[in-house]
Amino acid sequence: MSTIKLGDEAPNFTAQTTEGEINFHNWLGDNWGILFSHPADYTPVCTTELGTVAKYKAEFDKRNVKVAALSVDGLDSHNGWVKDINETQNTTVNFPIIADEDKKVAMLYDMIHPNADNQLTVRSVFVIGTDKKVKLTITYPASTGRNFDELLRVIDSLQLTANHKVATPANWNNGDDCVVVPAIATADIPAIFPKGYTEVKPYLRMTPQPNLD
Ligand code: BEZ
Repeated sequence: MSTIKLGDEAPNFTAQTTEGEINFHNWLGDNWGILFSHPADYTPVCTTELGTVAKYKAEFDKRNVKVAALSVDGLDSHNGWVKDINETQNTTVNFPIIADEDKKVAMLYDMIHPNADNQLTVRSVFVIGTDKKVKLTITYPASTGRNFDELLRVIDSLQLTANHKVATPANWNNGDDCVVVPAIATADIPAIFPKGYTEVKPYLRMTPQPNLD
């Protein structure tokens, strides 16, 4: 077990899930991925989180993102709990939940933080790019349900950087102006960003979001 750092390859594994056995890398294919852990089945915050992720499927699909959840509970527990999630959150869980009773994946991804809880996974999030490299890690405590709008926002930013040589400023939201990455010389900006740019400082150049009409 070692802490996974940005840029590391996301460790591969084979696991049982509510959608059958998966080899994680094969399952991701050419998609982006989100692997996220929750502390336990049949708990209130987790129930709302997994229901929310199910309702966001269209948003994840739009961005070519596949999502997998994980806790150290077994498959029977997951399958029983899914019925409760569907009933109480008015949705249908549409992504695999990994059964990790032996903590194999939890240990591989350092999802158990013993000084918080030495048995259960914390709320870890890993965003994985199409190159299988880890692009984002976030860790939340058990008592705080995640903001999945923030995850979509980060994925939009990561995909803009991957495809358009821009970064995104503080509190950026889809549609806002972007930052031209420092690697691009100001003289080269007009050819790369035909929508124009503003030079606030030689190191701070803003341009309209390149992938919008
Ligand atoms: C919950 O999902 O509600 C939860 C799980 C573990 C600790 C606290 C809350």
